[in-house]
Amino acid sequence: MHAPCVAFLSLLAAIPALAYDTAFAFAANATIETRSIDEIYQAALAEGGLVTLWHGGDESNQQDSLKTAFEAKFPGMTLNVTVDLSKYHDQRIDEQLATNSLYVDSAILQTVHDYPRWKQEGALLNYQPAGFEQIHPAFKDIDAAYYGMFIIAWSNTWNTDKLNVSSISSYADFLRPEFKDKLVLTYPNDDDAVLFQFNTIMQTLGKGWFEALLQQNPRWVRGTGTPATLVGTANNSYVATFTSSIGLVPSLPMKIDHSTDAFFTSWPQTGAIFRDAPHPEGAKLLHNFLMSVEHQNATGTFSSRIDVASAGGYPGIFDMNNTNPTAFGEWMGDRAQVERFRFWIEDKIGSAQGLSPLIDDL
Ligand SMILES: *[C@@H]1O[C@H](CO)[C@@H](O)[C@H](O)[C@H]1NC(C)=O
Ligand SMILES: *[C@@H]1O[C@H](CO)[C@@H](O)[C@H](O)[C@H]1NC(C)=O
Ligand SMILES: *[C@@H]1O[C@H](CO)[C@@H](O)[C@H](O)[C@H]1NC(C)=O
Ligand SMILES: *[C@@H]1O[C@H](CO)[C@@H](O)[C@H](O)[C@H]1NC(C)=O
Ligand SMILES: *[C@@H]1O[C@H](CO)[C@@H](O)[C@H](O)[C@H]1NC(C)=O
Ligand SMILES: *[C@@H]1O[C@H](CO)[C@@H](O)[C@H](O)[C@H]1NC(C)=O
Repeated sequence: MHAPCVAFLSLLAAIPALAYDTAFAFAANATIETRSIDEIYQAALAEGGLVTLWHGGDESNQQDSLKTAFEAKFPGMTLNVTVDLSKYHDQRIDEQLATNSLYVDSAILQTVHDYPRWKQEGALLNYQPAGFEQIHPAFKDIDAAYYGMFIIAWSNTWNTDKLNVSSISSYADFLRPEFKDKLVLTYPNDDDAVLFQFNTIMQTLGKGWFEALLQQNPRWVRGTGTPATLVGTANNSYVATFTSSIGLVPSLPMKIDHSTDAFFTSWPQTGAIFRDAPHPEGAKLLHNFLMSVEHQNATGTFSSRIDVASAGGYPGIFDMNNTNPTAFGEWMGDRAQVERFRFWIEDKIGSAQGLSPLIDDL
């Protein structure tokens, strides 16, 4: 979707989180990285060769490939990455900050509303990694305290071995008889980006859509990786989901599509380095690596950099139909509204059951 500039700025004005004015793109206070990646690497090695990253996600192995790629590129470096739900990571970070016991260097989370608060509290480092000027203006803080590091987007996802269709291009499609007992979805009340998806669909299609969905008897699970994993596994009857993100170029038998009858959720997964990070050079090396053209181009999804094309021939996220990648951040800032909708949903489907992430136990 093309967001016209004026609408765009008025939208952003509502969120201090993402307020931005291109006239002030380069805040005086932020350190602008001018060293080569090798110079940063040497500094990180001299510092001890360690970086501690807390990454949002719902399967403990979700960032194993990042660890492997980073450590292969920078021998002698250790990326100590811990994946957990962002809503738990952030509380623990708050506790570390409050007790002066911070040992996390960098956090890349879905809880986008935390970053402006952390910035206000003086907890974040104002630092521009190489290529900062190429990050989309809507995805970065004016003082380079935080920025979107890649885009996550839910897509309609199905297994063609189980249901051989070429497209699932609407949320209304999931109400068809062939999906009865065959949908697997993440509890919206357990994940705010899924909650926002349901909120968006119901704003457009109404409460009737949700009531009809419940008649389909979907299986509710914890974690957004789990639905795609179950759909992708041959030995069960789950055919499709719309609460997972498996990238833009899945391998067969999996296929994806995006709905046209209501917006799908997309947002910049946001990252920051802490001001009191014990390994600032390691964290800078990691952020330069993550924001590099080479890495952004290899994520298999939409980039937060304007100079890196989306995977699979898709347009940039702002040129996709039926999504607004800044809307989630705005919605997340109003916690009272989020909680009201969470408990409206929870009243209908019950509290989240099972381990989180479930998949570690499958
Ligand atoms: C930048 O520096 C000015 C003057 O010292 C200060 O008032 C302002 O809060 C700083 N901004 C940030 C983001 O640190
Ligand atoms: C690695 O991270 C874990 C979890 O955050 C932490 O408990 C552990 O102390 C870290 N290890 C090192 C070597 O810093
Ligand atoms: C799905 O249908 C297409 C076109 O009809 C066919 O080429 C393909 O082999 C089918 N795939 C499976 C897994 O049945
Ligand atoms: C289904 O397959 C998965 C992955 O191959 C396996 O972990 C799981 O135990 C299997 N479940 C059943 C019920 O056979
Ligand atoms: C990005 O990836 C594509 C597909 O793998 C490749 O063709 C292209 O050369 C890459 N571009 C850059 C700038 O790395
Ligand atoms: C967006 O919608 C237009 C008009 O329906 C269509 O031609 C175009 O292919 C769509 N783009 C994407 C990426 O779906």
